[in-house]
Amino acid sequence: MSRYVLDHHQEGERERLALMSGLLDPMHRRHLERAGVAPGARTLEVGCGNGSMSAWLAAQVAPSGRAVAVDLDLSLADAGVPALELRQADILAGPVQPGDFDLVTCRAVLHHLADPATAAENLVASARAGGTIVVIEPDFLPVTIADPAEVRKFWDGWLAWSRSEGIDYFIGRRLPELLCGLGVTDIEAVAETALFNGGSLWAEYWRLTVTELRPQLEESGKLGGRLIDAFLRQCADPAWWSQAIAFTAVHGRAPRAEDAAGPC
Ligand SMILES: C[S@@+](CC[C@H](N)C(=O)[O-])C[C@H]1O[C@@H](n2cnc3c(N)ncnc32)[C@H](O)[C@@H]1O
Repeated sequence: MSRYVLDHHQEGERERLALMSGLLDPMHRRHLERAGVAPGARTLEVGCGNGSMSAWLAAQVAPSGRAVAVDLDLSLADAGVPALELRQADILAGPVQPGDFDLVTCRAVLHHLADPATAAENLVASARAGGTIVVIEPDFLPVTIADPAEVRKFWDGWLAWSRSEGIDYFIGRRLPELLCGLGVTDIEAVAETALFNGGSLWAEYWRLTVTELRPQLEESGKLGGRLIDAFLRQCADPAWWSQAIAFTAVHGRAPRAEDAAGPC
């Protein structure tokens, strides 16, 4: 079974996932609407977290369609949403109903996985030929220019810790190539970055995330308490503006038999 560093049973994880939904669902919905999601469709979300996007997908495809939401741990997802099926599964173990779904999506999942290439292959194999694929993952490029210097050092330590945990915070830039290599066609990719200040919802997201992981961060020896405290002070200061993640969204179509081998 795959291991996930932000276990759903950790204190604060429900609130952290709710913040993620509030901050990222509008962008995710925009990408799905652009790709096209219609009543009657069969959709799959992998790594659904609290299930907010899958509940939205279910509302789009109901009453004749069906949304399936997969996660290693469904304890924070709402059961009982019409047209939504929650399914506990590991995307590294294989495709979900191979070749079945009209639309397959995942957000902020692949960067946590030991083998993102296999997960991407299983995602694509879950879609019907010509079905829509929308994958959104982070790229932490913006933290490499964060100010002030102490915050940049905080991020250096954060990235060193994440590498030691097998988390790839720079996967965003490689997604188009990864999907292209799997035969995905009509690929389009875009990245967007929120600029946020101390006291904002993004700052609160980071406060919760860093607080939840603090024992692990300090134990790892990659990030000390002084830098963590300096970062948390900035997160409370409304005069501090910064950016952290470039969310990279890639749209494409699952391969069809008639697709010629060649550039995506
Ligand atoms: C960072 S959370 C993102 C949740 C949600 N997609 C969002 O953006 O709000 C990553 C989610 O992926 C799930 N996950 C991690 N590894 C997985 C795997 N191998 N198969 C299925 N889900 C997985 C975790 O349990 C967690 O809910």
